[in-house]
Amino acid sequence: METIIEPFRIKSIEPLRHTSSEEREAFLREAGYNLFLIPAKNILIDLLTDSGTSAMSTEQWAALMRGDESYAGSESFFRLKGVVENLTGFRHMVPTHQGRAAERILFAVTCRPGHIVPNNTHFDTTRANVEFTGARAVDLPIPGAADTQARLDFKGNMDVGALEELLAREGAARVPLVMLTLTNNSGGGQPVSMANIQAVKNVCVRHGIPLYLDACRFAENAWFIREREPGYHAWSPKQIAQKMFSYADGCTFSAKKDAFANIGGLLCTNDDRVFQQETNLLILTEGFPTYGGLAGRDLDAIAVGLEEVLDPDYLRYRIASTGYLGRHIADRGVPIVEPPGGHAIYIDAARMLPHIPKEQFPGHALAVELYRHAGIRAVEIGSLMFGDAARHELLRLAIPRRVYTQSHIDYVVEAILEVNARKDRICGFEIVESPPFLRHFSARLQPCVPVPA
Ligand code: F0G
Repeated sequence: METIIEPFRIKSIEPLRHTSSEEREAFLREAGYNLFLIPAKNILIDLLTDSGTSAMSTEQWAALMRGDESYAGSESFFRLKGVVENLTGFRHMVPTHQGRAAERILFAVTCRPGHIVPNNTHFDTTRANVEFTGARAVDLPIPGAADTQARLDFKGNMDVGALEELLAREGAARVPLVMLTLTNNSGGGQPVSMANIQAVKNVCVRHGIPLYLDACRFAENAWFIREREPGYHAWSPKQIAQKMFSYADGCTFSAKKDAFANIGGLLCTNDDRVFQQETNLLILTEGFPTYGGLAGRDLDAIAVGLEEVLDPDYLRYRIASTGYLGRHIADRGVPIVEPPGGHAIYIDAARMLPHIPKEQFPGHALAVELYRHAGIRAVEIGSLMFGDAARHELLRLAIPRRVYTQSHIDYVVEAILEVNARKDRICGFEIVESPPFLRHFSARLQPCVPVPA
């Protein structure tokens, strides 16, 4: 059979609420044209993020009831630790309330002012947590990643030559760790190859630097390796993931992605001394090391999710369904970051709306238009989010795991194609009110004068 179906059936549903275009226009005005400020009940299809938005399985819901809420030494912790050890091989693991809490603790322990942390591409919280310690976050994507239209198999890779150069120039002593983000979220949800992980590890070993993975979407990355990298097609996703982790000295992980949990994170390391320092900090802000800011039941949901996510039927469907959205819009003229990523499709808004300069936020303009037209919420990843550091003007359509069916995605395709057909009439935006940090969350904007059609 050619048709790839959702490998699950629906047991519990949440109704969606249709709104009229007049209502949506009013919601937009009220929210200062910022989609983060629109109440979720007024959204029809929410593609803001794939983080914490998964549908849990019957096994996960059942696991919640097994949750052991003991303050210390909870059974749930030991169940999770067993699953994580088996998957990653890391000696030490602590839970955190989400990925960024793991990042904050890791960088607080390892980074000092003057340090440099190289990454294929930092996610925004990762960059912010590195910089908060006074260290510098440096992105080293491969040169091919700059061209949104280049169809490379492993466009998320790190530029190994650039890493060597950085170490020669700055000195290995200034680099407390190297990080690889799998998949590369800010770079278009693109995978990193096993060969690249291995090559980065070799450089790290030569310079005595630990390698950490930002492993949020490790299972999606493993599937891309299985499909695209010679030699792995007969491997199970779990075997591939185990091999990926075997090159690393530790990881941060947001369980809100590839563990189908609505909250949670992990911090892992093989370094006894780093682990000791991490647990000291963990107790200050997260909690005792056997619960780390989560309820026992959350730990159980994560443990089950980490095994479910490696099911080949699930991963085949997951990557195919994201690609389905990507191909159906790209093959009809909407420029996306090619090839489709694992968890999201990124529309190249600068290319789609060349009449809107980046100072007027083309990605944001497209986000507003898609909501106005069809009640769909997506997120700008461009100059509104990153200011001058933005490399591209993108609109990310992130797909929550196991939540939407193919007909929902067909609706999204239709809406995007209709918006594309009259894209010349979309106008840019200007900021009228902005907080000093993370302005995309709460800035208020207004439309610039419409450009004549
Ligand atoms: N690293 C990556 C690559 C991420 O994508 C995220 C979150 C984090 C770390 C932080 O994890 O949210 O649990 O604290 N990404 C979400 C997104 C928010 O929409 O892409 P967290």
